[in-house]
Amino acid sequence: MYRTHTCGELRINNAGEQVTLAGWVQRIRKMGGMSFIDLRDRYGITQLVVDDSVSHELNQVAEKLGREYVIQATGVVAERSSKNSKIPTGDVEIKISAMNVLNASLTPPFTIEDESDGGEEIRAKYRYIDLRRNPLKKALELRHKMGQETRKYLDSIGFIEVETPVLIKSTPEGARDFVVPSRMNPGEFYALPQSPQTFKQLLMVAGYDRYFQIVRCFRDEDLRADRQPEFTQIDCEMSFVEREDILNTFEGMIKALFKNVLGREMTEQFPRMSYADAMKYYGSDKPDIRFGMKIAEIKHLVGGKDFAVFDSAEYVAGICVEGAASYTRKQLDEITEWVKRPQVGAKGLVYIRVAEDGIKSSVDKFYTPEDLAKITAEMGAKVGDLILILAGDKKKTQDAMGTLRIEMGNRLGLRRSDHYAPLWVYDFPLLEWDEETQRFYAMHHPFTSPKPEDMEKFYSSNREDIAAVAANAYDFVLNGTEIGGGSIRIHDSAVQKRMFEVLGFTSEEADYKFGFIINAFKFGAPPHGGIAFGFDRFCALFGGQETIRDYIAFPKNNAGRDVMLDAPSHIDESQMDELFLKSTLKKS
Ligand code: AMO
Repeated sequence: MYRTHTCGELRINNAGEQVTLAGWVQRIRKMGGMSFIDLRDRYGITQLVVDDSVSHELNQVAEKLGREYVIQATGVVAERSSKNSKIPTGDVEIKISAMNVLNASLTPPFTIEDESDGGEEIRAKYRYIDLRRNPLKKALELRHKMGQETRKYLDSIGFIEVETPVLIKSTPEGARDFVVPSRMNPGEFYALPQSPQTFKQLLMVAGYDRYFQIVRCFRDEDLRADRQPEFTQIDCEMSFVEREDILNTFEGMIKALFKNVLGREMTEQFPRMSYADAMKYYGSDKPDIRFGMKIAEIKHLVGGKDFAVFDSAEYVAGICVEGAASYTRKQLDEITEWVKRPQVGAKGLVYIRVAEDGIKSSVDKFYTPEDLAKITAEMGAKVGDLILILAGDKKKTQDAMGTLRIEMGNRLGLRRSDHYAPLWVYDFPLLEWDEETQRFYAMHHPFTSPKPEDMEKFYSSNREDIAAVAANAYDFVLNGTEIGGGSIRIHDSAVQKRMFEVLGFTSEEADYKFGFIINAFKFGAPPHGGIAFGFDRFCALFGGQETIRDYIAFPKNNAGRDVMLDAPSHIDESQMDELFLKSTLKKS
């Protein structure tokens, strides 16, 4: 037997027992003829004591130990004279009578502490060592719990988990596909699923009216802190449902997760907001409503005063930043530079300070104190507040305003990670027009149903009409992050065909790529809808983090590489030949 207890288990009431522990050497301290060893495993740390006066031989073994050696030690549990209240095992130590080195270790390339001294690259290369650190262990434990609780809840309300294939057909709509060559079908490729969307709909046609799957998805897209090329969804679909049924069912699931994973009881209904309001008041389709600072359109208040920037702008809007009137000129200049960065994209920034000694602005030349008072009053600013204004083309400026609002929220500490503000956003546009390719793209995906009241416009031959069609789609947003998205689906083959027509597919192309689902809809497809949650994002937010990497055991870096495996990598010529592949890359 390797061990009788774990390293997190022993307490003062075990004193006097003979025990055997196994684990990794976290730290060794020597004092006189004694060696103190902190032994670590997944469950905690226990102090071992080797006393030279009891066994010189044993102390010699201890002398040779290094960090991260794997050892087994037997001894008697004793009360510690100097207790460590920081750890649950801190009242005891084990007086060692036998010790066995199970495996030696090279000196680890970084310290196994909560705050490691290793840089990101080196920790990624030695991920299996990094995973020994507490924060990563906690992250994976949280992920495990989230998965278990999700399954428990969905099972309890009649959902069944069904696995869908990973080698499927390439139908790029949205992100790029990862493709896999088929040896048995020369020149042909499978694609890895961006999501199991069509399969879950086919399961509805098959009559499995409550499906879910915790499933890996693959997307070849640019990576960010909350995006990985392979990630996991809690993917769900239901039949005979309307939007409200879906929102209520999954609000139940989300509340169960909050309660059972974080111990937070959420009794209120989650707020709901239309896409139009989200854009208007928050400049984002995923508003962070942990704080107010709503965007106000003020073109009607600022026009006609010979200030060309405002007069010529399609859109002028501001936010009132509470308590920020004390910002210095230097700070305001810095924010002005910040909004001009390409990522934000504003041309400049106008401010109005509502100070004790009156209202001051960066456009005093054009506006009288009365004009400014009118603007600040309408925006609800009080003494001590600062108004920040952007102007320009509507879409771009609204986005920039949204980005500035989040930045100010960060600067003012209004985005606390232990404060959770869930939100449903609904009624997204169905389609987006792309100037470059001169075609519509589905804003969610091509299986999303138009809202019934917009059906006439959907069949119109006028582009403006089609662009104005709303989708029966919704997102779940938590703290300004899009966690989930879904929709009520098209279940009529004629409507589905029309959708492909609107997206610019010829009838033959639609049949080649999506014939299987258009056909399936001819065999009794029930009305259905669903949603998918980004599981990694959900876990990260529950853990109070914005980046998902630490919630994935073996993630990729920002260039899509697995640094530990050094993948992707070249394959042998023979493998290429077998797959009928030829690289057009010049060998360097
Ligand atoms: P959607 O594309 O909105 O919908 O994806 C659902 C959720 O998955 C998460 N997500 C990601 N997480 C990490 N890395 C990525 N690269 C990544 N891409 C997406 C997001 C997102 O909200 N089939 C539809 C769902 C449906 O209609 O039912 C779908 O995949 O949190």
